[in-house]
Amino acid sequence: MIIMKKIALITSGGDAPGMNACIRAITKYCLNKKIKVIAFLDGYQGVIDNRYKALLLEDVDNIIHRGGTILGTSRSPEFKTKEGRVKAIEHLRKHEVDAFICIGGDGTFAGARVLSEEMNIPVIGIPGTIDNDIYGTDYTIGYGTALNTVVEAVDKIRDTASSHHRIFFVEVMGRDAGFIALNGAIASGADTALIPEEHTDVEELAKHLKQSAKGRRGTIVIVAEGDDAGGAKEIMQKVAPYLKGYSLRHSVLGHIQRGGAPSAFDRMLATQMGVFAVQLLEEGKRDLMVCFKNGRITSLDIQEAMKKKHIPKLSKLELLNQLQS
Ligand code: F6P
Repeated sequence: MIIMKKIALITSGGDAPGMNACIRAITKYCLNKKIKVIAFLDGYQGVIDNRYKALLLEDVDNIIHRGGTILGTSRSPEFKTKEGRVKAIEHLRKHEVDAFICIGGDGTFAGARVLSEEMNIPVIGIPGTIDNDIYGTDYTIGYGTALNTVVEAVDKIRDTASSHHRIFFVEVMGRDAGFIALNGAIASGADTALIPEEHTDVEELAKHLKQSAKGRRGTIVIVAEGDDAGGAKEIMQKVAPYLKGYSLRHSVLGHIQRGGAPSAFDRMLATQMGVFAVQLLEEGKRDLMVCFKNGRITSLDIQEAMKKKHIPKLSKLELLNQLQS
């Protein structure tokens, strides 16, 4: 068992609902064990600028239900430079931290890995992103909540789509990954999902929509923002010439998908992952990512997690097809 005195903590990259629950769990567990938590503000940028807060119990009281991150976040271009990292390492050394925990996505983990190499500090990554695009974990913190937000929004769009007999193209987040689009489509009863992992043939799509819109009150297509044929607006414009006489509309859900109170699942996931991250460090482990795999909280080499890609099960597209009329 390693006795630690101080750990550094950041949230980085796109915020995700449940990050606060994770910060709370880490802080409460550490303070119980007499480990100080130095939280740097606004991700890696706060480490470079030495903007920090030593977290106390009162800082993490009443935050489990709040979206966003109380620590702030950023995508720091300066940390990608050697000069930026020299400053960051100097500050971490000055604070005499024993380890570094970061909550975020693959960009965040890339930063942690470099830090571990250049400073020789134990790092642990906790996957927090609404995109769910991290290899090694079935779920990332925030993904479940974002899915619920998508379903709630699409339920509303369906009301107006069906009233006007329209085909609606709803754009959801996912620059590189189709998890939100695919599972959002299944959960909201959409007609189909267009995802970055699969090529979209516009002519085929138009043919399909013509067929499936027949006799239906409203048709919903969920489009991941990173689809190869474009976003919802672009795809709608591309299919329009093939769908003369049909009423087409699009809607971009945007950043509402990132906000809001975390679901019960995300709060549980975040709490378990946060405590587990500190326990790994106490066991003398380092350079790992915390995962939720097959119902268990476990860990994986952070470099391996970054090397591989987590892609949604394409059999789910087949499932959508099987439900089409
Ligand atoms: O958090 C991940 C993500 O939501 C992506 O799905 C999206 O493309 C991106 O962040 C948007 O980032 P930003 O808020 O920096 O524009």
